[in-house]
Amino acid sequence: MRISRVCLQRMGMMLDHYSQYNPMPLSMKNFIDFGNKTGCQEASFQFLRKELPVRMANIMKEIKLLPDHLLTMPSVRLVMSWYEQSFRELIQFENIDDKAGLTDFTDRLIQIRNRHTNVVETMAQGILELKETHGIDDNTENRIQYFLDRFYMSRISIRMLINQHTLLFGNEIGHHPRHVGSIDPNCNVLHVVQDAFENARFLCEQYYLLCPELDITCKLSNKVKDGDSIVYVPSHLYHMLFELFKNAMRAVVEHHSNETEVPKLNVMVVKGEEDLSIKLSDEGGGVPRSKTDLLFQYMYSTAPQPSRSDSGSAPLAGYGYGLPLSRLYARYFHGDLILNSFEGFGTDAIVYLKVLSNEANERLPVYNTTASKVYSSDIPVSDWSSSSPFNNNGHQSHRNYYTTAYNRSIGIAR
Ligand SMILES: Nc1ncnc2c1ncn2[C@@H]1O[C@H](COP(=O)(O)OP(=O)(O)OP(=O)(O)O)[C@@H](O)[C@H]1O
Ligand SMILES: [Mg+2]
Repeated sequence: MRISRVCLQRMGMMLDHYSQYNPMPLSMKNFIDFGNKTGCQEASFQFLRKELPVRMANIMKEIKLLPDHLLTMPSVRLVMSWYEQSFRELIQFENIDDKAGLTDFTDRLIQIRNRHTNVVETMAQGILELKETHGIDDNTENRIQYFLDRFYMSRISIRMLINQHTLLFGNEIGHHPRHVGSIDPNCNVLHVVQDAFENARFLCEQYYLLCPELDITCKLSNKVKDGDSIVYVPSHLYHMLFELFKNAMRAVVEHHSNETEVPKLNVMVVKGEEDLSIKLSDEGGGVPRSKTDLLFQYMYSTAPQPSRSDSGSAPLAGYGYGLPLSRLYARYFHGDLILNSFEGFGTDAIVYLKVLSNEANERLPVYNTTASKVYSSDIPVSDWSSSSPFNNNGHQSHRNYYTTAYNRSIGIAR
């Protein structure tokens, strides 16, 4: 589809306009309260028709700061074209106020979600294209790693908003009656652990014909309510645990390749007043401390890259996306994922989640001058958790903002 110059100019102006606004992080509690009590479709529409273009514009501005060579790679151009089209479609709802617009909006969100299904793989492909055609030096590599964390985090957040709206107000069937959109107010962590283990075990047995068993221990502080449950998005938790199980299983089986029996995996779930911690311990030989940062780099993998002809069957490892993406899911609601390795013995992978739903705030990348500098400076980029351009507001400031977040439209321009 050819787009006229006038249309492109208008889109450029709209991008400038929307990128001036800070994305507005919501807490798990906001999502639940809205879904359970205060929310109606119209309020969600009013909120999203601004918030979605703001989140998109913030990250689209950042894409444009990537090295020129990368921007010309076919797969990166394809991803950009998806974002541009979705942004254009969203801003068409800017001034629509009749009821008919509500259904159109929901349908449009579903189309946008479908269009963006393969963003992660396609962006990864774009980086491989750059590697093959131009090579990537250390500075470029650092900037790309920094960008990918922010880009994928933005995507997680956009999908979260879209899913909440379409699940609450669309005709999508098949979701659990207890769930509020994609959130389970009573998410049973042990069930998700077990589920992720079984599915990873299936892959592991397919690949190696054996798999470590699992031992689970659960510890609850006396003061906590609701057993081992938590307000959480089960699919996010599943994603993290599935990736961690695959890694642990591979390490254990490879490390004990000369033995007929392999040591068990151990999971400990501990719920305190603030944190719910899940520790997965394996005896897979561990990794040296000097390598642990590398493990969280996109595309770092010690497994052979899965061949394209394998695409029918899911590989156990090889893309180098498992850990960095899982850490993003953990950090999205202000949790974390860390690895403590004991070289020569094994690894503990720990997922921390916020127990209190009003403290589980979305963590969102914000396009601003600090972030932009990273793309033009030659100073090595530190991990994004320690770098400030993420919208990492303290909880205090959020509490005041978001009690009626969905009912308000955005008014804070920078
Ligand atoms: N529990 C572990 N024990 C030892 N090494 C590990 C463990 N977990 C991860 N690793 C190392 O970290 C690397 C990166 O892990 P990551 O999950 O990001 O990618 P991957 O498993 O190689 O591929 P995929 O994206 O398919 O998961 C692995 O290739 C492996 O070398
Ligand atoms: Mg992995």
